[in-house]
Amino acid sequence: MTDFKQRVFSGVQPSGNLTLGNYLGAIKNWVGLQDKYETIFCVVDLHAITTWQEPDVLRNATREVAAGMIASGVDPKKSIIFNQSQVPAHAELAWIFNCVARMGWLNRMTQFKEKAGKHKERASVGLYVYPDLMAADILAYLATHVPVGADQKQHLELTRDIAQKFNSDYGVDFFPEVEPLIFGAATRVMSLRDGTAKMSKSDPSENSRINLTDDRDLIAKKIRKARTDSEPLPGSVEALENRAEAKNLVNIFAALSNRDASDICIEYEGKGFADFKNDLADLSVSVLGPITEEMSRMMDDTAYLDGILREGAVNANRMASPILDQVHEIVGFLRP
Ligand code: TRP
Repeated sequence: MTDFKQRVFSGVQPSGNLTLGNYLGAIKNWVGLQDKYETIFCVVDLHAITTWQEPDVLRNATREVAAGMIASGVDPKKSIIFNQSQVPAHAELAWIFNCVARMGWLNRMTQFKEKAGKHKERASVGLYVYPDLMAADILAYLATHVPVGADQKQHLELTRDIAQKFNSDYGVDFFPEVEPLIFGAATRVMSLRDGTAKMSKSDPSENSRINLTDDRDLIAKKIRKARTDSEPLPGSVEALENRAEAKNLVNIFAALSNRDASDICIEYEGKGFADFKNDLADLSVSVLGPITEEMSRMMDDTAYLDGILREGAVNANRMASPILDQVHEIVGFLRP
């Protein structure tokens, strides 16, 4: 078959605002995959409620993530875009995977340890089995390629372990081996206040992140306020190694302009951060401005967005249902 396309699945949580980190680390990279792969992009609302979400805020954030994807160039005509809770296969397969995965495997997950913090006993059970649901997201479609940031690599390894154990427990060759698609260095966008912490929607400081709901002035202001050190920019990427904030800004510049970080260093060698940040502010505004404006237009037309999600869910369900039927058959669930 010449027109066979491999299948990509990825997801973003609708918890809090979409940030520059979501854009550069995930969504932007999805756009180019749409012609090469069959692509399924999911707003993972079931994952979001592993920590408490205000219902109205969750509804809004779900639309916002969908709008962010579409405004960034994810095309509903090329990709399936939907929210996870509309397709029952995710939760159903996750239950089966809860029975395949081992406690010992989940105990090793560093993201759970980070998110649960000191009070492990008070974390939701859902947060603990979060990776099982993520495995279900991917494998409900027999997807083979998953674009993720470095922080999700361990979850993807677990997905492979679950697929393998399922196959060997049931003596089948059913679930595929999933491959990560990891993008360039700048995919890990750090906080504008602390170059050693990931840019996060949960950081209490608004100035630590750029939200895709920020307008042009606010974007420029946050870039100009970003923390740096007092040295001028170096001529090479290697010299940024112990300068976390400087490195982060160079990486953001590189990712937004589709250039190499080393290229940026050569251009700005010896210059101070005031000049660099002015240029970065202009660049950020010119790239993000049209996206944030399109997003805000779409957020005013919820009927359009909801229609896309509904149609996406119908298509996703059509793909996942027969796969789930086969899983039921393999596991021995009776369908009289
Ligand atoms: N856990 C991912 C994150 O926080 C989101 C996610 C959920 C996901 N299901 C997925 C990513 C499936 C890739 C594939 O970034």
